[in-house]
Amino acid sequence: MSVLLEVKALSKRFSRKDSTGQAFNAVSGVDFLLEEGGFLTVTGHSGSGKTTMLTMLAGLITPSSGEVLFRGTNIFSLSDRRLSHLRSKEISFIPQGAELLGNISIYDNVRSPQLFSGGDAEDSGRVDYLLDFMGIGALAEEYPANLSGGEKRRVAIARALFNRPALILADEPTSDLDPENTVMILDLLKKINAEGTGIVMVTHDENAAACGTMRTCMAGGMLEPC
Ligand SMILES: Nc1ncnc2c1ncn2[C@@H]1O[C@H](COP(=O)(O)OP(=O)(O)OP(=O)(O)O)[C@@H](O)[C@H]1O
Ligand SMILES: [Mg+2]
Repeated sequence: MSVLLEVKALSKRFSRKDSTGQAFNAVSGVDFLLEEGGFLTVTGHSGSGKTTMLTMLAGLITPSSGEVLFRGTNIFSLSDRRLSHLRSKEISFIPQGAELLGNISIYDNVRSPQLFSGGDAEDSGRVDYLLDFMGIGALAEEYPANLSGGEKRRVAIARALFNRPALILADEPTSDLDPENTVMILDLLKKINAEGTGIVMVTHDENAAACGTMRTCMAGGMLEPC
């Protein structure tokens, strides 16, 4: 198997904007390898550095030190233009509490990565396929306000898949969902993974953490197998 993501000694130092002004490492010397089509889960207490790590893997914030190699290329050595291209085509980040755009339909939400990247001709077949894959084909013309929390999460995942990324970074995709919707979202992520998409998923849910092929825990900015 070839390597999709290699993370080497990744650290992020922040300075607290309180009276102490002290610097601390939110992420500290993280190393791991994710094979093509692998599924890594990350658990850990609130404040342990999970979101900070994920946003670096997505190229959204720059590490203080260390490297993130996507298929062998250090993403932080890329020009802004190439990094944006990578982020819109290859690496898809589903932020914690991912919100949909309220004033456009579900259909347009799913194809919004294309709307904003000024991409190719409309790919309506792709939107229909993804909505059906997520079991929400009947909701295409609805607006986000009319959907349940679980349905909105499914739309956010469909949107993340629109450009056929090789890697999905999901920050607590099942938080605030009831057990039934949690199982549904996890089944969908497993299905996406079985079709070859690599996943790094941060979660507080033990069942979700057991979905991956590689399970890790974060504590004090450090990542360890668990
Ligand atoms: N931009 C920032 N500036 C300063 N400190 C920050 C910044 N972003 C995050 N932190 C701090 O870094 C630490 C890790 O935050 P992070 O959001 O990565 O935690 P987390 O593990 O995702 O927590 P949760 O489970 O609550 O989402 C926290 O102490 C947080 O306050
Ligand atoms: Mg977080």
